[in-house]
This record gives sequence, C-alpha cells and structure tokens, in this order.
Amino acid sequence: MPVQKNKTLGEFIIENQSEFQYSSGELSRLINSIRLAAKVVNHEVNKAGLVDIIGQAGEVNVQGEDQQKLDVFANETFIKTLTNREIVCGIASEEEEDFITIQGRNGQNENKYVVLIDPLDGSSNIDVNVSVGTIFSIYRRVTPAGTPVSLEDFLQAGNRQVAAGYIIYGTSTMIVYSTGHGVNGFTLNPALGTYYLSHPNLCFPEKGQIYSVNEGNYVHFPQGIKDYIKYCQKEEEDRPYTSRYIGSLVSDVHRNMIKGGIYIYPNTARDPRGKLRLLYECNPMAFLIEQAGGKASDGYRRILDIEPTELHQRTPFIGGSASMVEKAESFMGLYPESTP
Ligand code: AHG
Ligand code: MN
Ligand code: MN
Repeated sequence: MPVQKNKTLGEFIIENQSEFQYSSGELSRLINSIRLAAKVVNHEVNKAGLVDIIGQAGEVNVQGEDQQKLDVFANETFIKTLTNREIVCGIASEEEEDFITIQGRNGQNENKYVVLIDPLDGSSNIDVNVSVGTIFSIYRRVTPAGTPVSLEDFLQAGNRQVAAGYIIYGTSTMIVYSTGHGVNGFTLNPALGTYYLSHPNLCFPEKGQIYSVNEGNYVHFPQGIKDYIKYCQKEEEDRPYTSRYIGSLVSDVHRNMIKGGIYIYPNTARDPRGKLRLLYECNPMAFLIEQAGGKASDGYRRILDIEPTELHQRTPFIGGSASMVEKAESFMGLYPESTP
C-alpha cells in the first residue's frame, strides 16, 4: 500500500475506528486525549534546557527512586487530561502508589477502559538532552461499568490489552501505537502541532545486528544472558553484533524496531525480579513488539501471558527481532530459572 504522506493521526483514528470490536468511539477519544497530553509534555520536554524544570523534584516515588520534575509534570498532565475529559474509569501510573478511580462528574462513570502509564520513561536522560518517552497500555475493565474500578481491572495479563503505545520525545516527536492491527508511527510537525502518519505498518526485521543491554551489570547477570552476550560478540557469519544502549526502554526498542535488534533487561543478583515494570513498561512494549512481528519474553515465558499479582510488579525482559529473542531464550533454557 502506498504511503499517504499527508494523512494525520486524527484522520487515521477516524478511518480505523471500525477496527475495534466494541467500537463506540470511546477508544478513539481516549487515544485522542493521549495525543493531546503528549503535545503538552512534548512542549515541556523540549524546553528542559531553557527553564528551571530540570533536576530533582525532591520527592521519592513508590519505587524509592528520585522523581524528576518532568516525571511529576508528565504524570499530572496525563492524569488531568484523562480525568477532566472523563474518558476512562481508572488510571494506574508508575508515579502513583495506588490506582486512581475516576468517579465522573455526576458520580457515575460509564467508561469501559482503564489506562496504565509510565508518564516519563528514561527520565535520567533529561538532563543530558537524550530521548525520553511515555508508555501506555489500555484494557477493558472486567468489573461492571458504572461501579468504582478495582485492582482486578488493572491486574490483567498483557494478552488482554486492547491497545498500547509509546510517545518518543526524540530528534522528532512520535506516537507509535497499536490496537491489535499492526503498529503505526506518527511524527509531530511542531510548527502545526499535527501528527502525520510517517511509519505505516512498522515491522521488526526478522533478524538484526544490534544488542541493547546495560553491560555495566554484566557480572550480576544470569549465566544464560552472559552466554548470549558472548554469542553476540563472537566473530562468525553475521557477527559480532553491535551494541547500542540509550537507557530508555522506549528509545532502545524504537531504534531496534526500525533497524533490527534485541533489548535485554535481565534479573540480576541485586534485582532478582528484574528492574522493568510489567504492567506499564513490559506489557505495552511486548504488545507493540509482537504486533510488529517480534517477540518478547522473560527468558522462559511470553511476557503477555504472565498473570500479574501486583500493580508495580517487575519482570526480566527480552524483546526484539523474533529470531534473536528465540536465540537468547535458548541460552536461558540451558539453566534453571532464577539462577543469577
Ligand atoms: P524510568 O525512567 O521510567 O524509571 O525507566 C527507566 C528504565 C528504562 O527505560 C531503561 O531502559 C532502564 O530503566 C535503564 O536502566 P539502567 O540505568 O539500569 O540501565
Ligand atoms: Mn520507565
Ligand atoms: Mn518513568
């Protein structure tokens, strides 16, 4: 299909609304709200070097990590936009210990969807002008509409996601999302404030030559990951692979989706469950990776099949070009699980 270069995200959403099984326009409005909030966050991220917004906010989030001011700003922007428009019935965020119930103005909220969000991903990159992102995941609630949301609405396996996406605030700003019918990328024209379809039907190359992992943690990695890294570095046929690691899941996966590659954040002796969060980092990224023809695993099982038990649950994560992930899994499979 030829790329219609001037198609906007707004037009694309309207044209594709019928793709949704239960379409009532609600999901389209939700993606529209995310698009709007992303523009506001983009504006703020872009002036990070100009105004007094960089640096620590002086607070520690539920993970015990320092919150950056832009983490707080992005969190508030997404929550406010989604709350004010009464577009969802609940929100869970990396920056909030508990999920948020949205009551609705007259006390009755009939919306069907919940959103889980990492408002600013890779936030340690802000002070140094390197790409950051936002990750979102959307589910239909499982409890009856019109009642307050409960934890079970958020603790759903990733294979039940209705839509997921990310925004990358990079050399240009893009929204990349999927409603389960492939992955499409839209680039923001900052002069007009409009996103245009720039990357229709994004697909992982079957095989790539990039491996992305924080090798500073190498000595703490499980033996299967150590062996796989050595395999990547070996001189043979199409190897050695090259190493690229930004330290922002969104940016690392985005690059690998276009160029072909694998992203790995394993469990370590220090973090036996890994670092990345299942519900608002790994599940949405795994959904996009699979929709783009790649694979995502914790080394032993498909990420999307993990039944979550906690809102801020962590998991080891291996995602990218299908054959590369399969290779990494084959190394992991030689050792019993959870042997750091
Ligand atoms: P966040 O900024 O939302 O806390 O996420 C950071 C995550 C992820 O984006 C990134 O890939 C990873 O942490 C980097 O971790 P290391 O610095 O340990 O490599
Ligand atoms: Mn993150
Ligand atoms: Mn974050």
